[in-house]
Amino acid sequence: MPKNVMRRILVTGATGQIGSELVPELRRINGDENVIVGVHRRPPSDELKDAGPCEKVDVTDRESIEKVVDEYEIDTLYHMAAILSAGGEKNPWLAWDVNMNGTYNILEVARERSMARVFIPSSIAAFGPETPRDNTPQETILKPRTMYGLTKVAGELLCNYYFEKFGLDVRGVRYPGIISYKTPPGGGTTDYAVEIFYEALKHKKYTCFLSEDSTLPMMYMPDCIKATVDLMDADLSKLKHHTDFNLAAISFSPKELAEEIKKHIPELAVSYEPDSRQAIADSWPKTIDDSAAREEWGWRPSYDLAAMTEDMLKNLRIRYETGQL
Ligand SMILES: NC(=O)c1ccc[n+]([C@@H]2O[C@H](COP(=O)([O-])OP(=O)(O)OC[C@H]3O[C@@H](n4cnc5c(N)ncnc54)[C@H](O)[C@@H]3O)[C@@H](O)[C@H]2O)c1
Repeated sequence: MPKNVMRRILVTGATGQIGSELVPELRRINGDENVIVGVHRRPPSDELKDAGPCEKVDVTDRESIEKVVDEYEIDTLYHMAAILSAGGEKNPWLAWDVNMNGTYNILEVARERSMARVFIPSSIAAFGPETPRDNTPQETILKPRTMYGLTKVAGELLCNYYFEKFGLDVRGVRYPGIISYKTPPGGGTTDYAVEIFYEALKHKKYTCFLSEDSTLPMMYMPDCIKATVDLMDADLSKLKHHTDFNLAAISFSPKELAEEIKKHIPELAVSYEPDSRQAIADSWPKTIDDSAAREEWGWRPSYDLAAMTEDMLKNLRIRYETGQL
């Protein structure tokens, strides 16, 4: 897919944490009218609604996908609809339905129409307690214990099957925890790393639901968007992997993040009261080896802990001061 070709794109789950920032970037590249926001329950922001088309898409209902895909002659899908780790443990039946049947529906719709390219993300939740936690290799043990994690492993394998069996160009990364200031996260184990910024600015105190030393792989949203766009632009002939790229940027513990925020807000008081999400965090890697992504499509993150913290605080302050929060 050459870079200068305009695509007709549908983003499912587009009003979520990642979709709501991916859509403006895809619209910048491909034109506002060529990127459709797939809405399910969570309504679109004014920014998404005012700039281009928004349509109802429930990924568990194949007809609702087909209707939008055919009406807008979609040739590229970004499938961001999912139930995440913490939400998935509250309702594992829904997580199975949305993550497995939703992904299967997306793949079938794309296969039947010979779509140009499909992006379906996986997660560090694909790893489990038996996986080496330091510098987790690309090829490793995938035995997660959460419903979310097992749907991500099955999803990776299913996507790879569609690539090998049907030649459908499906691509995906194992996103780490994503940190952002525009749209709140949708119920994951790394959500603390977003919440702490809001609470630091508003109340100067935060109670963290993970222990202070729970180091996890994280990434700032601009890097997440860059990785997504770059992988979809990559030359297929250079890719040895397709649907399961390890992806890393920064790893830190809640205590290290709190110390970094305290450089800007010294009064911040953080206490730790681990809840059920601690067990999930304990089964995930601390650091990730993403050399396959670096070698095959030139992945390089831009933000370290200090740069991410400074930018988060700067932008959230603006949002508080202008009454957006
Ligand atoms: N945010 C992270 O830290 C993170 C980390 C690893 C992987 N991921 C993956 O990235 C993708 C996007 O995640 P996100 O953080 O934006 O999630 P999110 O929870 O913020 O958004 C997901 C969206 O999916 C929608 N949705 C739920 N059920 C649906 C259905 N039946 N049909 C259509 N839409 C439905 C929700 O309304 C929501 O807007 C997911 O595949 C997720 O597993 C995210």
